[in-house]
Amino acid sequence: MQENKIENESPTPAEGKEETIEVVVADASHEKYVDTILKTIEEAAKVRGTGIAKRTHEYLTTKMREAKAVIALQGETFAGFSYIETWGNKQYVTTSGLIVHPDFRGRGLAKRIKDMTFSLARTRWPHAKIFSLTSGAAVMAMNTQLGYQPVTFADLTDDEAFWRGCEGCVNVDVLHRTGRKYCICTAMLYDPEEHLPAKIPQEVIDRIRKIDSPES
Ligand SMILES: CC(C)(COP(=O)(O)OP(=O)(O)OC[C@H]1O[C@@H](n2cnc3c(N)ncnc32)[C@H](O)[C@@H]1OP(=O)(O)O)[C@@H](O)C(=O)NCCC(=O)NCCS
Repeated sequence: MQENKIENESPTPAEGKEETIEVVVADASHEKYVDTILKTIEEAAKVRGTGIAKRTHEYLTTKMREAKAVIALQGETFAGFSYIETWGNKQYVTTSGLIVHPDFRGRGLAKRIKDMTFSLARTRWPHAKIFSLTSGAAVMAMNTQLGYQPVTFADLTDDEAFWRGCEGCVNVDVLHRTGRKYCICTAMLYDPEEHLPAKIPQEVIDRIRKIDSPES
């Protein structure tokens, strides 16, 4: 299993001594943290007063087993988490469920987790568009640094499974009322094609696909 470790020199507030926070791609050995992760997400949602996309124990466990989750630990102590999801036949990817435990906030840990999930998504699905639907200022700041641009909702996936995630939000009536065109959240998109110095025409892309998989 891939283990990406980034050193962090911040001391633990609880113990006052230096211990590194490791940010790693999660695997089955991290399943023991799932209950703590779910509880931390739930408590943060209560504080923010927002609704929350329902995540089950099994869902997060599967994300860990599939190397689609990133966890931050200080020794054995849970510090942060996020995971990636694909939509619309893997044409779109989101990084979701970003949470940093209150004891570890304000020292760049969310940024490190976001950088890791973003890199994981780009590595696994290099042609997918990565989008974000958020009302969080911190997430918007990190998205902007990574090259996401604000877009309208029409630029996001039309995968019903993604939009079902909004049903638990307190503002979902706005989304319904506007026929999914507008809501409280800001839509942001990272389009990998826009980061290329030149555009390859669609017919050339189609030709390349045929060459790469002649049977299809
Ligand atoms: C949001 C959250 C993940 C930030 O974690 P963190 O480790 O404190 O964030 P970082 O220190 O890595 O900061 C990352 C960036 O966000 C900014 N930021 C952090 N908290 C912020 C806040 N409350 N408001 C505005 N910006 C904020 C930082 O200034 C930094 O931007 P910069 O690089 O331009 O300076 C954390 O507060 C949390 O878990 N909150 C509850 C859950 C949540 O809101 N998740 C996001 C779902 S959309």
